[in-house]
Amino acid sequence: MYVQNASTPERKPVTVPGLHAMKAQGRRIVMLTAYDASLAWQLDAAGVDIALVGDSLGMVVQGHASTLPVTLDHMVYHTAAVARGLSSALLVADMPFMADRDVAHTLEAGARLVGEGGAAMVKIEGAAAHILEAIAALTARAIPVCAHLGLTPQSVHKFGGFRIQGREQEAADHIMAEALAVQAAGADLLVLEGVPSSLGERISAAVNIPVIGIGAGPHCDGQVLVIHDMLGITPGKRPKFSKDFLAGRDSVAAAIAAYAEDVRSGAFPAPEHCFN
Ligand code: KIV
Repeated sequence: MYVQNASTPERKPVTVPGLHAMKAQGRRIVMLTAYDASLAWQLDAAGVDIALVGDSLGMVVQGHASTLPVTLDHMVYHTAAVARGLSSALLVADMPFMADRDVAHTLEAGARLVGEGGAAMVKIEGAAAHILEAIAALTARAIPVCAHLGLTPQSVHKFGGFRIQGREQEAADHIMAEALAVQAAGADLLVLEGVPSSLGERISAAVNIPVIGIGAGPHCDGQVLVIHDMLGITPGKRPKFSKDFLAGRDSVAAAIAAYAEDVRSGAFPAPEHCFN
């Protein structure tokens, strides 16, 4: 039988100011996705700093080809399940596709993810004008925001697939400008996905908020992976930016602990996980 937080070691809860302090002190931030209470408990026990209920659940849990079919109800359901498994990691929940179509819908979604789901922060993809307005509106109501730039999966059709972004100078400069814009709008954290390492390094140095990379090179302030990818259980080819941490280890707990250690030491991502 599952016993909530049966043996979670005492650890101070991770906070938004605490994440800012980690960047200032040069301490790398460990983030991992979770979609249920049991895996959330494993993340917490391994000392992961941030648990992300990503809309990647549409692909790895629900079996869809993209994140687009995920609804706000799905996100609230999984966020609440993860919240019940956590005692110290900061809980971030994704805004699903089109939940941020205008400020009113964004605030309604933010209120549900925080109020019903128990999230401490919500994540929003992009930096279009209405997204900057949404970030400012949430922040003004004390809902911290994690921005998400680069290869934003909800734009899969616009990109023509899950393609690395920011390879050309103009595109890289555009993503850099977006990073400064989401920071100015009030974002407290930035996930940067699928960009060349040089751009990950440039953006991490240019903004004051912590930058969490996924396929964005080793110079970000932290790293995030989809837990199914790092346990090697996602069907099909493993993404280049991920690593199977369960290979050669005998438990999920050991795999998550190794991931956390490798992110903190800078051993992950290695050059073979990066785009240049
Ligand atoms: O949905 C998700 O899991 C994400 C991560 C890949 C960052 O957005």
